[in-house]
Amino acid sequence: MRILITAGPTREYLDDVRYLSNASSGRMGYAIVDAVLAAGHQPVLVSGPVSLTPPSGCEVHHVETTEELHSVCGRLFVDCQGAIATAAVCDYRPRERFPGKLAKTGVSLELELVETADVLADLGQQKGERWIVGFALESDEFAHINAIRKLKQKNCDAIVLNRPTAIGSTTNRIEIIDRAGNSVATISGAKSDVARDLWTWISDHLLARTSGSS
Ligand code: CTP
Repeated sequence: MRILITAGPTREYLDDVRYLSNASSGRMGYAIVDAVLAAGHQPVLVSGPVSLTPPSGCEVHHVETTEELHSVCGRLFVDCQGAIATAAVCDYRPRERFPGKLAKTGVSLELELVETADVLADLGQQKGERWIVGFALESDEFAHINAIRKLKQKNCDAIVLNRPTAIGSTTNRIEIIDRAGNSVATISGAKSDVARDLWTWISDHLLARTSGSS
């Protein structure tokens, strides 16, 4: 089966040399790519800029901005049976990208930000019989409520709740929340182990829906 996996951060440019982004290392997504490959499936990786090398045998598409992630995922999802969205997507971009390098003016600069596309929500709208798994990065005491809201809003089949400590780390602690909004598993450890166990859960609970496909 072909499984679309997004990983890493996106970047939103203010001018040709400066951008907004985040500290995502891409490790969780790349570990899931390894787990999918090890299980004999075909990961289709759409990666933001990270310092990791994708495994050989994996189809990779490099993107930088949310707009690129959006259009590449929209195109590739058509030929995939499911998607796992680990990417730490920038929710906002500067309204304007200035050409060249903005020079100092001696006065404060106001930056206007506009929302970017929600890539996962769009995949959720077009998924049909396919499945999608999102990641919810939550920092406050309403983590579960927020994660379940994202699960429903983005039409996910499961959502993986994790915390900001996961960003840039080699380990993670995740909670899998199923379509009904129930917390069904907690997994912690090295991201490679977490990825393997998450993939096992996805195989057992979601793959059956599309197992008739190649
Ligand atoms: N996501 C996406 N496109 C966006 C924002 C998020 O595809 N513009 C995906 C992420 O890859 C993740 C899920 O949606 O799988 C949830 O991302 P998260 O950052 O936790 O939540 P947001 O939807 O961005 O909401 P908020 O920032 O308000 O918490």
